Amino acid sequence: MLPVYSQDEISSLDLGLKGKTAIITGGTSGIGNCTVSYFLSQGANVVMSGRNPQVEEMAREMGAERAVGVRGDVCDAEHRKALIQAGIEHFGQVDILVNCAGITLLGNAEELPEADWNKVIEVNLTASFLMAQAVGSYMIENHVQGCIVNVASQGGVIALKRHAAYCASKGGVLALTKVLALEWGEYGIRVNAVSPTVVMTAMGHQAWDGPHGDALKQEMPSGRFAEPEEVASAIAYLCSSGASMITGHNLIIDGGFTIK
Ligand SMILES: NC(=O)c1ccc[n+]([C@@H]2O[C@H](COP(=O)([O-])OP(=O)(O)OC[C@H]3O[C@@H](n4cnc5c(N)ncnc54)[C@H](O)[C@@H]3O)[C@@H](O)[C@H]2O)c1
Repeated sequence: MLPVYSQDEISSLDLGLKGKTAIITGGTSGIGNCTVSYFLSQGANVVMSGRNPQVEEMAREMGAERAVGVRGDVCDAEHRKALIQAGIEHFGQVDILVNCAGITLLGNAEELPEADWNKVIEVNLTASFLMAQAVGSYMIENHVQGCIVNVASQGGVIALKRHAAYCASKGGVLALTKVLALEWGEYGIRVNAVSPTVVMTAMGHQAWDGPHGDALKQEMPSGRFAEPEEVASAIAYLCSSGASMITGHNLIIDGGFTIK
């Protein structure tokens, strides 16, 4: 089994994000919340987006002066605008967007309700595009040479049973990432994606607890699923100057699962 490092060991890398401002969607739970902590530990400012009514209080507790919470739905244009506004108002500008909000609705393809298909595509793909469009156009207009990281999934790269809508949405996110990188390189904006395997969050447990998850782990060179910190640190790396030549890339974080 691949070793798991402590959060302190993972956070001890200095990625040079001090003073940068990141909007992080899905920031109140799971990978998004861990990414908020990681960016704060790196000295970045964070605008934390979430539907949780406690989002403002959570942000205050996590980041004191360097985090602000904005409650809303990523499918709502007003919320997307409010996130950018909060970044400008509190921290001067927005340098980074992490599109992490996402959902999964599972079902065999022959039975998946159209409404479930539409909801998954709306949140995972359409809202990621519209969020990137809002932040990208702000960056272009204001000459901010920033970066965007889209949280896709191993499901965007390989087929997973009962995940038709989810895999289609994440495959779409990967294609979108490449187009945005192609179009916005000339403005100095980098756009990348990360594709984690199963991560031990509420969503990971929902889809993979049980014998099918145990069987999957046996097929992985890592012998285990991922921890949220292992995704947060990869997202932060892609936003760092160390990744200055990396754009349009999909960083697969899967303990070697998809190499076969
Ligand atoms: N956990 C995994 O196994 C796994 C694997 C690969 C990729 N991912 C991706 O990582 C991202 C985070 O997932 P997670 O595991 O942390 O799950 P999670 O359920 O803990 O977090 C998802 C977050 O997105 C938010 N969200 C959902 N719909 C929203 C909407 N319409 N507006 C605003 N916020 C909304 C939720 O409130 C929640 O805070 C997702 O995009 C998911 O697809 C997760």
